[in-house]
Amino acid sequence: MKALKLNSRSPEWTQLLGGYLGQLAQKNDVFLLVGELGTGKTCLVQGIARGLGVKEYAFSPSFVLLREYHGRLPLYHIDFYRLDYIKEIADLGLEEYFYGDGVCAIEWAEKGLQLIPEDHLLVTIHYVPASHTERLISLKPQGKRYHELIEQLIRRANYGPEYETPNLAEIQKSKAKNQR
Ligand SMILES: Nc1ncnc2c1ncn2[C@@H]1O[C@H](COP(=O)(O)OP(=O)(O)O)[C@@H](O)[C@H]1O
Ligand SMILES: [Mg+2]
Repeated sequence: MKALKLNSRSPEWTQLLGGYLGQLAQKNDVFLLVGELGTGKTCLVQGIARGLGVKEYAFSPSFVLLREYHGRLPLYHIDFYRLDYIKEIADLGLEEYFYGDGVCAIEWAEKGLQLIPEDHLLVTIHYVPASHTERLISLKPQGKRYHELIEQLIRRANYGPEYETPNLAEIQKSKAKNQR
């Protein structure tokens, strides 16, 4: 499977998607979150936390490298935002979390790709030009577990073709049409 592409129309929609991921998550799952500042990575993690039954409010751990939440499974919310060197990330000793008893959600994961398990779900969030509340979210599974997860997600969330947005160009085209 290539990536599942979804068009989020609001923060709530993004959290709902996170909620499904949290419900479907299993021990040792690794979710990588990539996207510019303010695209909604933390927003998605809030949904994942909720889906895992975490009662506390998840907020951006940008100034803390790792925050742990307790739900059906532990959630390790990791943020590489302030890290510039791969060595700084290596020194964190994250293997303990990747191969531990919980679920890892990692913001700015692209900074530490070399250290991240080969099998993972890569979630990339893009701004949609000229919109404050829309985001293009792509979920790319790497490895058997995550292909299955995507299949389950599509069934659970009932993501039909109306949610699939082939590419950014098409969104722009339909926008231009609406504005005319
Ligand atoms: N469709 C959307 N999905 C997620 N966040 C959105 C969306 N539309 C607007 N937002 C807003 O964008 C911001 C995202 O912030 P945050 O999740 O902290 O981003 P990041 O962690 O990627 O820097 C929030 O203020 C949120 O309300
Ligand atoms: Mg964030």
